[in-house]
Amino acid sequence: MSVAESSTDGPDAAEASVTINGARHEFPVLKGTLGPDVIDIGALYQNTSHFTYDPGFRSTASCESKITFIDGDKGVLLYRGYPIDQLAEQGTFVETCYLLFYGQLPTGEQYEAFRRRVVNHAMLNEQMTRFYTGFRRDAHPMAVMLGVVGALSAFYHDSTDISDPLQREIASIRMIAKMPTIAAMAYKYSIGQPFIYPRNELDYSANFLHMCFAVPREEYEVDPVLARAMDRIFIVHADHEQNPSTSTVRLAGSTGANPFACISAGIACLWGPAYGGAYEAALMMLQEIGTVDRIPEHIKRAKDQNDSFRLVGFGHRVYKSPDPRVRIMQKTCYEVLDVVGHRNDPILQVALELERIALNDDHFVEKQLYPNIDFYSGIALKALGFPAEMFTVLFAIARTVGWIAQWKEMIEDPIQRIGRPRQLYTGASERSYISIEAR
Ligand code: ACO
Repeated sequence: MSVAESSTDGPDAAEASVTINGARHEFPVLKGTLGPDVIDIGALYQNTSHFTYDPGFRSTASCESKITFIDGDKGVLLYRGYPIDQLAEQGTFVETCYLLFYGQLPTGEQYEAFRRRVVNHAMLNEQMTRFYTGFRRDAHPMAVMLGVVGALSAFYHDSTDISDPLQREIASIRMIAKMPTIAAMAYKYSIGQPFIYPRNELDYSANFLHMCFAVPREEYEVDPVLARAMDRIFIVHADHEQNPSTSTVRLAGSTGANPFACISAGIACLWGPAYGGAYEAALMMLQEIGTVDRIPEHIKRAKDQNDSFRLVGFGHRVYKSPDPRVRIMQKTCYEVLDVVGHRNDPILQVALELERIALNDDHFVEKQLYPNIDFYSGIALKALGFPAEMFTVLFAIARTVGWIAQWKEMIEDPIQRIGRPRQLYTGASERSYISIEAR
């Protein structure tokens, strides 16, 4: 088999060919606005009776999308064309939600109307509060999120018809609005405190902090620096193109499953320790290292081919240069630590030194292992007052808008079809059943 790419009649006429057993087959090469061209092999099986083989999807574009662009080599992340640092510095999370979902930044009027809709949907059906008491108090909050978000489909029947654009929009706004409430309730339940209802006069992130940290018997004023930090953390996590959880949401959605069930599937995927669960693991690793003098032994282990130990918070499937979100997280981390008075937190010192050593170590440089977004997130979230088990939950709140925007894009894509990969089968060939006595 041989593969070639040619472009004879200008940029729009590029095509690639594959020669299999002497027969040449041509395939169109599609160009995006940014990023690598893709070879459209949709007709490969029909034309050649061959599949492609790409475990982990290292070279496979699963869909066309207009939402988020990443250049992992240059460290670029754009939401609908806008650089992440500009949105994080100048925008708000609710504005980012509007942008991701509708495709444009809102005017003042559009923003206010959207913000009000989100505020109005923040409460949960009161009956849903009973779900929480069915969980053990020591349940991981991600387990609670999974269950409660999936259960939304049992409560909001008027927004589960995915063929109706209005219902799609209402379900989407409901999820963006209710996710902080669901998450805060999971947290309150885990510590045995009463649930705190959403407050309409607070903005999205301040309201979330209020629901998590207020108690009924005294006033709780949200520090604006902390609310802004939370908002920025939500912005940088809002979308990340076809990451594992988004791909899970798209795959689940491709069957026509309702949006609440699809988002619940995304939450399940996000929980994995190699992915969203790494937030928790990164902080635990920094705590385990504990002091700067213990860093070299951990670096040594991470480099040892015979040791499965990995530096959690380092490396990324897509970023082979610094992740643009990391500096934003580092800055946010400093701001939060200044407000709570923990600037000399020993864990921060370990993180800074570990980063410095790894960035100057040939092994890490050669393998292009840079700190990922998890690295500083845990320190910032801990300083905000959250226990480690809540970290992935906060990621889920932020990513909900990305999931929902990608899900909507998929449903509205005229060429959308059920996601059904194939395989390279290496199991037994057909054989005959032998009765148990004869085996
Ligand atoms: N520490 C030490 N070595 C590492 C690390 C690490 N954190 N990450 C990758 N490597 C090494 C691997 O051992 C491998 O070495 P080899 O070439 O000798 O086999 C090489 O770098 C490539 O690693 P892969 O696992 O093939 O890279 P992949 O792109 O599949 O993995 C991943 C990316 C899963 C994020 C990986 O870097 C990792 O496990 N990191 C630690 C967990 C983590 O921080 N996850 C969060 C990711 S960010 C997010 O999900 C929001």
